[in-house]
Amino acid sequence: MRNIVILISGSGSNMAAIVRAAEQGRWAQCLNAQVAAVLSNRSDAQGLDFAKDHGIPTQVLDHKAFASREDFDAALMAEIDGHAPALVVLAGFMRILTPGFVAHFAGRLLNVHPSLLPAFPGLNTHQRAIDAGCRFAGATVHQVTAELDHGSILAQAVVPVMPDDIADTLAARVLTQEHLIYPQAVAQFLTQSPMRSKRG
Ligand code: GAR
Repeated sequence: MRNIVILISGSGSNMAAIVRAAEQGRWAQCLNAQVAAVLSNRSDAQGLDFAKDHGIPTQVLDHKAFASREDFDAALMAEIDGHAPALVVLAGFMRILTPGFVAHFAGRLLNVHPSLLPAFPGLNTHQRAIDAGCRFAGATVHQVTAELDHGSILAQAVVPVMPDDIADTLAARVLTQEHLIYPQAVAQFLTQSPMRSKRG
């Protein structure tokens, strides 16, 4: 079985969309894949309860308990490696990852970002899109590389920016699209990669 490890920091709605897609699409039978664990850097991440309710092991690794970014990433890497993942999915994981972490999971590390990359990498994407007068905004699923919010694009979705939008209303419209394209991109990634698990 190929293991998927999902990393969250907050509400975890993208993680929930992927878990639901795995259940409804019978990924275990059809793709030889399962969501093996949900990890969070915050103990108050609401998504942890959803994962537990769906029988998925969870683990919290508080970044504040580590002296440096490198120490945290090393511990996180070890925790993830314990699941021998075929795929690591960042789903609202609000941490900048060290180059060593990214290199370790290169080719099996995906992220969803709430903009039409390469526009608006980084934070506050919705306000920046509104301020720039964009008529369209959206979301991008991409491979993670050492450069923040770069890496090859696997999927995108476009939404209109309405004249009365504020960041929150635009974010909500974009998020509904993330819930569609992220599970699809994960399933497509699994379909296109070898069926073997990391343990062989
Ligand atoms: C999503 O909009 C995701 O694109 C964004 O955080 C939100 C998490 O929502 N990620 C980033 O901004 C990463 N830089 P969720 O926790 O409900 O999935």
